[in-house]
Amino acid sequence: MSKYILPPLPYSFGALEPYVDALTMEIHHDRHHQTYIDNLNAAIEKYPELAKIPLDKLLVDLEFVPAEIRTTIRNHGGGTYNHNFFWQIMSPKGGGAPNGPLIDLIKQRFGNLEIFQMQFNNTAKSVFGSGWAWLVVDAQGELQIMPTLNQDTPIMFNARPVLGLDVWEHAYYLKYQNRRPDYINAWWHIVNWEQATENYLIIKG
Ligand SMILES: [Fe+2]
Repeated sequence: MSKYILPPLPYSFGALEPYVDALTMEIHHDRHHQTYIDNLNAAIEKYPELAKIPLDKLLVDLEFVPAEIRTTIRNHGGGTYNHNFFWQIMSPKGGGAPNGPLIDLIKQRFGNLEIFQMQFNNTAKSVFGSGWAWLVVDAQGELQIMPTLNQDTPIMFNARPVLGLDVWEHAYYLKYQNRRPDYINAWWHIVNWEQATENYLIIKG
């Protein structure tokens, strides 16, 4: 039996319409995410001792992964980890503003929510090629906006994700074609701030 399985979406393919369309969600989840998982499983099957190690540990300690599968773990393990995170950070009931400690910290760190969103958008827009934009808690415990390329994930850089946006073309091209900025602006309508706040509280322990 495969170690990693595709987690079901916590909502229907069409639930995030009109901001993300149903066909994009179906292909993104059922094909792209599934492919990352299949390739991760194939790599792990070659080195069964790695099956006992949690995925986040493999990604943080990539230098200990056998060289033959290191790139596969980085790309497809990262893709698995990032997409597991991504489905949770969106919701048909999302959008608006966060409550509780997260909004206070965003205001402290960035000034207000709008300034934070503008800076996050700029980071997301300027990822060259395929990658992600993140709000993370860094090693010093501070909120930071950071990009990652391809399927690299913040935990590989000693940062833990609170919020993350997939800006690979596969995430938006059917509906938005080359208009990545329109996709980024639309995405704020479906951001699951409750989950982001929970992520933050878990990081802070
Ligand atoms: Fe993706």
